[in-house]
Amino acid sequence: MHEKFHYRSLEELKARAEELGVYLPFSEDTAVLFEEADAGDAHFHNRLGTAPMEGADAEPDGSPSELTRTRYLNEAAGGSGMIWYEAVSIVPEGRSSAHQLMITRENLDAYKRLNEALKETGEKQNGFAPYLVMQANHSGRYSNPQGFPAPMIAYRHPYYEKLRAADDSCIVSDDYLKGLEERFGEAAFLAKEAGFDAVDVKACHGYLLYELLSAYERPGEYGGSFENRTKLLRHGIANAKQAESKDFQVTARLSAYDGYPYPYGFGVAQDGSDTPDMTEPIRLIRELYEEDGIRFVNITMGNPYVNSHVTRPFDFGKYVPEEHPLVGVARMIHGIGEIKKAVPGMFISASAPSYLRQYADLYAAGAIKEGCCDQVLFGRMAFADPDFPNEIKNAGRIDPKRVCLTCGKCGDLIRAGRPTGCVVRGNRLYLEQYKEYMADLKKNS
Ligand SMILES: Cc1cc2nc3c(=O)[nH]c(=O)nc-3n(C[C@H](O)[C@H](O)[C@H](O)COP(=O)(O)O)c2cc1C
Repeated sequence: MHEKFHYRSLEELKARAEELGVYLPFSEDTAVLFEEADAGDAHFHNRLGTAPMEGADAEPDGSPSELTRTRYLNEAAGGSGMIWYEAVSIVPEGRSSAHQLMITRENLDAYKRLNEALKETGEKQNGFAPYLVMQANHSGRYSNPQGFPAPMIAYRHPYYEKLRAADDSCIVSDDYLKGLEERFGEAAFLAKEAGFDAVDVKACHGYLLYELLSAYERPGEYGGSFENRTKLLRHGIANAKQAESKDFQVTARLSAYDGYPYPYGFGVAQDGSDTPDMTEPIRLIRELYEEDGIRFVNITMGNPYVNSHVTRPFDFGKYVPEEHPLVGVARMIHGIGEIKKAVPGMFISASAPSYLRQYADLYAAGAIKEGCCDQVLFGRMAFADPDFPNEIKNAGRIDPKRVCLTCGKCGDLIRAGRPTGCVVRGNRLYLEQYKEYMADLKKNS
């Protein structure tokens, strides 16, 4: 039986966590969330940010539409110190849908205008401009550039392929991967010109660079050893760093744990179980810090296409996971905390606070105070209530009437390649989209 979020107080929530045998950090004092911070040359006005959330609402050429603009303008007005843009494709064949953002030389001005508007809005509403990160991505096995699957994979993955077919012809060549190393460099220069403050060489959630991290059995230059599996990420970063300056940084969003046993998962024990083992993620983050000069990263977990409860613990959804959502939240923060403690110099953003609803702010403050991370990025909460940072600042708490209910409907919309936002609290058009999506499902069943 799946238990829904029902806690009437923090004490009740903590007691349930204890019963489940997990510990979650909380602090009633949220002042730490409004401390400024530096990470190398980057400066953040507070410790709250919006996590990357794909909206599938770009124009056909990949530029932001009016809907995209509205989403981001709401986030900038809401007081986030950092806005980590959603996945922006760096090549047409790697788009997750025909409506995914994609940055090109031709559409650069549209990004420039949006970024200027975000900075202006932040300055005007909150007295500071949000720090803007562009998430550069190749969707890999989840590419659907024409609106239907066109997977490009690192290796055959029996767990991922249970839900989405692929065959040997989908495996990308070493030459293709080498070419991508350069594309990440080019994307960084475009991002810089477009007014972003940083570019994220994305390696998470089952996409191409993340899949390579567990390509233990792939032959050739990008598989087998740790050096080979991390090569595209690190070379992509090295090329992106050519664009670096005092005002423009390179970062990465990384999944530290996959959820599947060796040899099909990263950050997992090599004993055939699915137990997290942070040895390789820690080694990677340490090398990014010590050898590559990366000063901040965002850590997440799982692959939302196959085990979304690992990436974003939830109450409702298409399938009911066996684990309690509080167990998922705990796995996330303690894995991230292990990395932070092992590489203390790296500024670390943690993911996945939204399940905790009106206690998510206390959790974020607790996680920072207990040394698990330096900043927390809110995903679904930012869709439901982009004003959450200002509510915490001005009213002392996130408004319980505006919190994300982790209903999973935004996840359904993005998988359907439809404009995505909060179906419960957001613009009515998202509810309309959801109704159409349900009607389509019925028609096709
Ligand atoms: C609709 C939707 C779109 C998402 N898009 C992205 C994305 O573009 N890039 C990314 O790294 N993560 C993406 N995520 C994952 C979120 O950034 C975040 O890690 C996850 O929702 C957990 O955080 P939360 O508990 O605050 O929602 C997406 C999640 C959802 C639900």
